[in-house]
Amino acid sequence: MDGSEPGDGQGFSRRDFLRGAATGAVVSSLVGQASAADPPAPSASAPIVSGAVTAQLMVNGHRLQVVVEPRTTLLDALRDGKAPDGKPIDLTGAKRVCDRGACGSCTVLFDGKPVYACSVLALDALGHAITTVEGLGDVDRLHPVQEAFVQHDALMCGFCTPGFVVAAAGLLKANPHPSPEEIRRGLGGNLCRCGTYSRILEAVAEAARTGKGA
Ligand code: FES
Ligand code: FES
Repeated sequence: MDGSEPGDGQGFSRRDFLRGAATGAVVSSLVGQASAADPPAPSASAPIVSGAVTAQLMVNGHRLQVVVEPRTTLLDALRDGKAPDGKPIDLTGAKRVCDRGACGSCTVLFDGKPVYACSVLALDALGHAITTVEGLGDVDRLHPVQEAFVQHDALMCGFCTPGFVVAAAGLLKANPHPSPEEIRRGLGGNLCRCGTYSRILEAVAEAARTGKGA
């Protein structure tokens, strides 16, 4: 939005995450093996995964088994992945636009922090809590940030909206009372081609004001 680094209001930026996420595939949390409690880290002794494997991800509070290859991104796994029985995962809330860590439409929360799902390998999400827009609220029970977006008419085509909503939810969780500047910075990794920025900023400020966003 303003050219600043995308962040979560706590000094963590999604571009920082991209640098850290460039790790090798870790398989200690694959189905049938012990869960990884720590963030994935490159290890010389880590087994190399060369084909499709069934990974168990924690998405929106549920265990999700999905068949992935080492190159499969988290976004691919969520949107186009399949369970071992062939059923589609079909979590399409995170959108694919640039597919290269530039637009924020694919934003999900990774242990509560906004990240670009197109730039995280699915295997690097093992042992971490992933929240997609589907996990925040639904049509019958909107998340306060979603409610504020509706009240402030903060969308046009809506394609960027899930990414903004997830980024805003992550921001307010980390910083329930952000200043306008902190909101701008927190949403700095998300782009809206329709140009609804002022209404988005108003909506997030409103969610923060009511204290319901966190
Ligand atoms: S689709 Fe992931 S940042 Fe654009
Ligand atoms: S509302 Fe259309 S891209 Fe943001």
